[in-house]
Amino acid sequence: MDSNKRPETMERITTKALADSFIAEQVEAIRAQVGDKKVLLALSGGVDSSVVAALLIKAVGKQLVCVHVNHGLMRKGESEQVIEVFKNQLDANLIYVDATDRFLDLLAGVAEPEKKRKIIGAEFIKVFDEEAAKLSDIKFLAQGTIYPDILESKGVKAHHNVGGLPEDMEMELVEPVKLLYKDEVRMVGSALGLPDEMVYRQPFPGPGLGVRCLGAITRDRLHALREADAILREEFAKNGLADKVWQYFVAVPDFKSVGVRDDMRYEGWPAIIRAVNTVDAMTATIEEIPYSLLHHITYRITHEVEGINRVCLDLTPKPIGTIEWE
Ligand code: XMP
Repeated sequence: MDSNKRPETMERITTKALADSFIAEQVEAIRAQVGDKKVLLALSGGVDSSVVAALLIKAVGKQLVCVHVNHGLMRKGESEQVIEVFKNQLDANLIYVDATDRFLDLLAGVAEPEKKRKIIGAEFIKVFDEEAAKLSDIKFLAQGTIYPDILESKGVKAHHNVGGLPEDMEMELVEPVKLLYKDEVRMVGSALGLPDEMVYRQPFPGPGLGVRCLGAITRDRLHALREADAILREEFAKNGLADKVWQYFVAVPDFKSVGVRDDMRYEGWPAIIRAVNTVDAMTATIEEIPYSLLHHITYRITHEVEGINRVCLDLTPKPIGTIEWE
């Protein structure tokens, strides 16, 4: 039987009871596969890797070694949340690597989007490899592969690529959610007790804020972007839009416009709001945000974020615009 094919008889996990029985089955299967050996996992903080981590912690506890690489392009508070949930609450064996300087130094002056993506992807693997090489006796590599990844023939997730591991490390894959659809992964995550912000997290591109800090990334503009994006998320959550909108974020281009603040000329970057709905990210429509809320968000961003002096709203559907700006 093809272990990468979801059996037709497999029931869709739609309830807590079904999730609990899936968890019980997988805990047994993981224990049988792993025995008393160690398992390595790149924990990005995204839904899939977080659920796999929680499942493995339940099955084999500290035999799981999670590596969280902070590439300096995370949204505000996200690396902190990974540490809080996994290290503090679940008592995981978590290695936290703050590689911000490495990534930002390499990205300095690089304006071309695909080049930025390649640098981020390659450096991610390098940092992960370096951490893996410091460990001994790792026999297994866990991955948050989910069924759509297999259907799209991308069984191995770009940033968590086994191909990127040192050649002398021969690791067997552990992929406990590879036959699940996203909604089922979320259901399992909730049943495992992961917080809603993690389980219902929006999709976030691997290169993170790197593709939203448009053009050549600078630290000051990246900081402004992160703060503006945090305000947008906070206001969407407060106003009931967080559950309604599929993906929403701020992008900050690398040019300034003239403004005025405290009666003085004040040059700043614009913050561009993008809020889209989609089923599969192949096409997307624009969410209507109440004007009163837009005014409030504009006020907050322009008053609270150093370096931003305008707020714009992107009304472009996909096609013709892609969801991300880069
Ligand atoms: P686009 O911009 O192509 O985005 O309309 C479609 C979806 O994919 C996400 N995206 C990425 N995800 N690495 C990722 O893991 C990437 O390089 C990347 N680029 C775009 C995007 O956020 C949207 O959900």
